[in-house]
Amino acid sequence: MYAKSNGTNGTNLSEVIGSPPKLKEGGSYIMESHSSSSSGKTIIIFSPTDQSSAGSLAKVLKIFDVFSVDLTHIESRSSLRVPGYEFMVECDVHKNPHLHDALEILKEKCSYFQVISRAYNEEETKEAADEVVPWFPRRIRELDRFANQILSYGAELDSDHPGFTDPVYRERRKYFADIAYHYKHGQPLPRVEYTDEEIKTWGVVFKNLTKLYPTHACYQHNHVFQLLIENCGYREDNIPQLEDVSNFLKDCTGFTLRPVAGLLSSRDFLAGLAFRVFHSTQYIRHPSKPLYTPEPDVVHELMGHAPLFADPAFAQFSQEIGLASLGAPDDYIEKLATCFWFTVEYGLCRENGNLKAYGAGLLSSYGELEYCLSDKPQIKDFEPEVTGLQKYPITEYQPIYFVADSFDNAKDKMIKFADTIPRPFGVRYNAYTQSIEVLDTKPQLNNLLSNINLEMHILQNALQKLMIDPEVKCP
Ligand SMILES: [Fe+2]
Repeated sequence: MYAKSNGTNGTNLSEVIGSPPKLKEGGSYIMESHSSSSSGKTIIIFSPTDQSSAGSLAKVLKIFDVFSVDLTHIESRSSLRVPGYEFMVECDVHKNPHLHDALEILKEKCSYFQVISRAYNEEETKEAADEVVPWFPRRIRELDRFANQILSYGAELDSDHPGFTDPVYRERRKYFADIAYHYKHGQPLPRVEYTDEEIKTWGVVFKNLTKLYPTHACYQHNHVFQLLIENCGYREDNIPQLEDVSNFLKDCTGFTLRPVAGLLSSRDFLAGLAFRVFHSTQYIRHPSKPLYTPEPDVVHELMGHAPLFADPAFAQFSQEIGLASLGAPDDYIEKLATCFWFTVEYGLCRENGNLKAYGAGLLSSYGELEYCLSDKPQIKDFEPEVTGLQKYPITEYQPIYFVADSFDNAKDKMIKFADTIPRPFGVRYNAYTQSIEVLDTKPQLNNLLSNINLEMHILQNALQKLMIDPEVKCP
């Protein structure tokens, strides 16, 4: 889709873009994007200073026209930042060599101007790169864009993978990868009929792990695991369906699962957490080695991760890591991914003076679950600024584990750490619209304040009622 301006005053948006405006499903935007995504995507959000005439958008679009910049997407909306409207345009930085020049001119004509780009670190100059925030999804459906940006496709196995020489297994992996590749937000997660061999593999791991859980897993995991047995078909002879587990989690904390076809970048994976979305594999490890997998599989996701996402404090902690990652520079993404590794994947916690495991990498590995609570590994307290710098092996048991006093405590530390991330705005997840609010202007902060005032009123009202009726006890 190209933006074409006729350069006359009074041009409305539909004339500018050459097709009728269309209300995007479930959103407030007026035009559907034609492009799914590309690594060169750059988004520019701006409010023209002069909005007095009806042709103000046409005037600024003329700038793109002059520099032969092809726009792939245009949206307009009432601005929460400045009086009037703001526009969002999207283009491919690789296909538009004069984009930078166009933006220099555009910037001078705008009261608000922000560039968000996936190709931000490829910008021509350091100065330009400093002005650009790495692209991140603003609405939950934009997670669909990650599907074709996986680092490796699920059917491509390394030569040392146990299933590398097994054509049947490879075909099966392709089947799962294709499901995930074509999945779109809002659809039910496809149900899979697992083979007898796959169920047998699941059963071997299930039987072993459940022997250790009562003594080695944290309270929250054991508590939820029982509920998963009762509600989602967690059994030795049944591999639970992602759809059932996702619905269960949604009821508990709003977390949902979505299938993933392969490895995502840390930036994309963490961004999902900001929406309380967890990218989950659906295939199972090779049957020749049921107690070993070189990569995450459905055992790791459902036995290790899923139970904890049903815990409100843990869900909040996970989401804080995700929110901290949005628009963060690359070096901070690495620190956040490392914090994720040492908590959500390999975290230990204290429980009545004893160490317990809550990390999914531990709760899905019989061997490492035993090892992590032995006297062999080194134990340190979880401190994001220190933990985020710790190097770690990915193919052997961890030599160091980090311990959280509680999920609430770990969450508070993550929030403090997130404050140190250099980015020119705050972010907040709006659960009503399932979107990320970027807070960088006074009107938006006023809006947030009025929401908080409403919540405070609800709290005050409830407290007053408790004081009036002494029979009602505080929780
Ligand atoms: Fe994991």
